Amino acid sequence: MDLILKLCAVIALIILFEPKAFAAPGQELAESLAPNISPDVQEQAVRELIQRVVGPNAAKLFVVEVNKLLEFRSYQISQLDDGKVLIAGWDGVSVAKGFHYYLKYVLNKDLDWFKTHIELPPNVQLPNVTYSSQSASSIIYYQNVCTWSYSFVWWNFGQWRRHIDWMALMGISLTIAPIQEAIWQDVYKQLGLEDEEIDAHLAGPAFQAWQRMGNIRGWAGPLPPNYRRLQVLLQQQILQAQRSLGMSVALPAFAGHVPVAMRRVYPNASYTEVERWNKFPDPYCCGLFVEPQDPLFKQVATHFLHRVIQRYGSNHIYFCDPFNELQPRVADADYMRATAAQVYGSMSAVDPDAVWLLQGWMFVKNIFWTDALIEAFLTAVPRGHLLVLDLQSEQFPQYQRTFSYYGQPFVWCMLHNFGGTLGMFGSVELVNKGITSARQMPNSSMVGVGITPEGIGQNYVLYSLAMECGWSLSRLSLDQWFDHYALVRYGVNNSNLAQVWQLLRGSVYAFKGLKKMRGKYTITRRPALNLQPWSWYNGSSVVQAWQLLLEAHDTIPMEDDKYEIYLHDLIDVTRQFLQQSADKLYVNLKSAYRKGQLDRFEYIAGQMLELLDDLERVLASGRHFLLGTWLEAAKRMATSAKEQPLYEFNARNQLTAWGPTGQILDYANKQWSGLVRDYYKPRWAMFLDAATLALKSHQEFNSSAFKERVANEVELPFSNKTDVYSVKPEGNPWLISLEIYEKWIRHAQNSQFLHYNRLFVKILD
Ligand SMILES: *[C@@H]1O[C@H](CO)[C@@H](O)[C@H](O)[C@H]1NC(C)=O
Ligand SMILES: *[C@@H]1O[C@H](CO)[C@@H](O)[C@H](O)[C@H]1NC(C)=O
Ligand SMILES: *[C@@H]1O[C@H](CO)[C@@H](O)[C@H](O)[C@H]1NC(C)=O
Ligand SMILES: *[C@@H]1O[C@H](CO)[C@@H](O)[C@H](O)[C@H]1NC(C)=O
Ligand SMILES: *[C@@H]1O[C@H](CO)[C@@H](O)[C@H](O)[C@H]1NC(C)=O
Ligand SMILES: *[C@@H]1O[C@H](CO)[C@@H](O)[C@H](O)[C@H]1NC(C)=O
Ligand SMILES: *[C@@H]1O[C@H](CO)[C@@H](O)[C@H](O)[C@H]1NC(C)=O
Repeated sequence: MDLILKLCAVIALIILFEPKAFAAPGQELAESLAPNISPDVQEQAVRELIQRVVGPNAAKLFVVEVNKLLEFRSYQISQLDDGKVLIAGWDGVSVAKGFHYYLKYVLNKDLDWFKTHIELPPNVQLPNVTYSSQSASSIIYYQNVCTWSYSFVWWNFGQWRRHIDWMALMGISLTIAPIQEAIWQDVYKQLGLEDEEIDAHLAGPAFQAWQRMGNIRGWAGPLPPNYRRLQVLLQQQILQAQRSLGMSVALPAFAGHVPVAMRRVYPNASYTEVERWNKFPDPYCCGLFVEPQDPLFKQVATHFLHRVIQRYGSNHIYFCDPFNELQPRVADADYMRATAAQVYGSMSAVDPDAVWLLQGWMFVKNIFWTDALIEAFLTAVPRGHLLVLDLQSEQFPQYQRTFSYYGQPFVWCMLHNFGGTLGMFGSVELVNKGITSARQMPNSSMVGVGITPEGIGQNYVLYSLAMECGWSLSRLSLDQWFDHYALVRYGVNNSNLAQVWQLLRGSVYAFKGLKKMRGKYTITRRPALNLQPWSWYNGSSVVQAWQLLLEAHDTIPMEDDKYEIYLHDLIDVTRQFLQQSADKLYVNLKSAYRKGQLDRFEYIAGQMLELLDDLERVLASGRHFLLGTWLEAAKRMATSAKEQPLYEFNARNQLTAWGPTGQILDYANKQWSGLVRDYYKPRWAMFLDAATLALKSHQEFNSSAFKERVANEVELPFSNKTDVYSVKPEGNPWLISLEIYEKWIRHAQNSQFLHYNRLFVKILD
């Protein structure tokens, strides 16, 4: 548009849309972080995004405009005389959000993590809709430092490109850029460390999140130089794509954690040895923490941050967590105050407009952090220059207890997922209510809403919902929202499919309470005789939902990947049924063992193994449930034959032993084909054999002997194996699911099984 036209448009807009009565809280802060990217560049970036989403032809039907005179983080949809749809927005992200609104609520087409392309019918007539909306959240945040290790670790830029499109479509305006190893390599070299000393510090690709936070060091390394170099290039590409859409990106800052070799070079500095984290043995644990009061802290911090900004540019926001899952040296308010002031001071020395992005995780369920210590820590930074991510607001919010972070701005975040595990789970009501309540809380300093899952690729519905709750000023009507979700997900208006999602909403997604759900289910845990499976929902709802899904098969359209999405959900619900059925089998197995009923025990043991076979079979039929995809992606990252085994080891170990000898065993378990067959099932088979033998010989089950054996024969060797797994799904998911349904529903009527089945897993309220 030339200048005159633009001016006219601006005047017209000013006349048409009167300004809102209030600015969303935190607007000034959010505006100060927005990247300084010209509207033209942002427009072009959204134009290209739209082309990727709907294809170049359909993209011609949309006209985009970035206009800084619109309300902050708002968009307006209207139709031009030539029938094209105009989406104007405050920045690229707002336009993308408006485009998503049009797709989802006007055309009834939606996207998700696995689907970022939408097929519009040829010659589609775009309905004339006039609609405008402003985000109720000045900041919409996404990512957890762990997501980079659990989900993004093997991604190339092509995968990132699609993911960044998705982020913009959801309205996400703030995220992080944690890749920093090549920069540290330079910094440590300059400080006088040797290559071997740095190699001993940097962890392998799949474990960097925890090494960056000071929890571990060197595990599954060393990091090949090529890897470090290519990762920085990847981060630069990602940043460029994000900023060109108007997203702000927080950069890493120095938190105090350094290689132990720093003591050799700077023997007189004041260090604290980091406590042992999750029993990690030497030399993989216990690095050094440079005391922020020591001059060395500022030296390292400013040196590092200068280089980070040099490589990445800056949006004046930096993240670091000196005490994430690590206890400070002393419980003293002056120490906390000085520490926070020094950390922030080291940022503001480099960038006077610095804002420190902090994870509030350290305050969760940690008796160390008394109110006085928290207040001292938080208020040592000038108000508005510390932005706290309240990391698991749906379950353990800290903003009430900290009096809204003593006035420091915070982001309400749904964490939801740990380790990228795959069970269906969520707290729909708590998210919908929690966000508005926190906003309306007296003296609230909430400035945004975020999603901070440790891993993605599961329970998409929760993230979609949370992002819309974050944008919306009022609570969503969940009845309508879930009906509509079914409609856009499958592309057909079918009350049974709506019922499927209402059933899931009322069961698996209705979690409330304080028990920690960390994605550990019987099926994926190391077997034992003392597990305590628990459930927060009535499993009959899942069975009903499954039946309705199966019945809806013939109504699903073939276009626009709808059938594929349907099959994905069918596999997921089948998986959920098998997961919960394994809990029930196990409860009965335990009872049979306790009562010394050998026949009953053997019968259920056989069922358990059959169930695992069925789980393997149904997962193998879906392309998003394959171990092969994960392993092949890891191997593809190698730039030489030498790197490949290292990456494969990283990929396998993270999913299973999570450490040299099972330190965080199965934390990041995945119900994937390949893992079920070669890891979870062999483990159960070994356990069931040993327990049967114990029953037969009237001897006590020797659990320490079993643990030792299963660790040495199944769990630990898995990391070192190199078997190749398919990246292609096998079998017809619908037929497999149907077969499993008929078989296990029949089993439920089998008198023997019914008897065993009557013992429900304890349902908590
Ligand atoms: C679209 O609808 C609006 C409001 O009803 C109307 O003013 C406008 O003329 C319509 N635009 C077109 C191109 O039909
Ligand atoms: C450390 O302190 C000792 C004693 O004060 C001094 O002799 C030594 O030179 C110092 N070392 C360094 C590297 O500054
Ligand atoms: C809100 O802030 C005011 C002024 O600082 C204070 O007097 C009042 O007690 C606070 N209210 C709550 C509920 O914290
Ligand atoms: C879906 O079907 C119901 C009942 O037939 C109808 O009331 C509703 O308007 C339809 N919704 C859409 C978006 O077509
Ligand atoms: C679960 O739901 C089913 C069907 O709605 C019902 O018959 C059953 O009593 C419920 N079970 C529990 C434990 O609430
Ligand atoms: C159990 O196994 C452990 C190690 O395999 C062995 O040392 C121990 O003696 C066994 N205990 C019993 C009661 O047999
Ligand atoms: C796996 O391989 C590493 C060396 O690459 C070795 O140190 C380790 O002992 C092996 N673990 C198992 C369980 O074989």
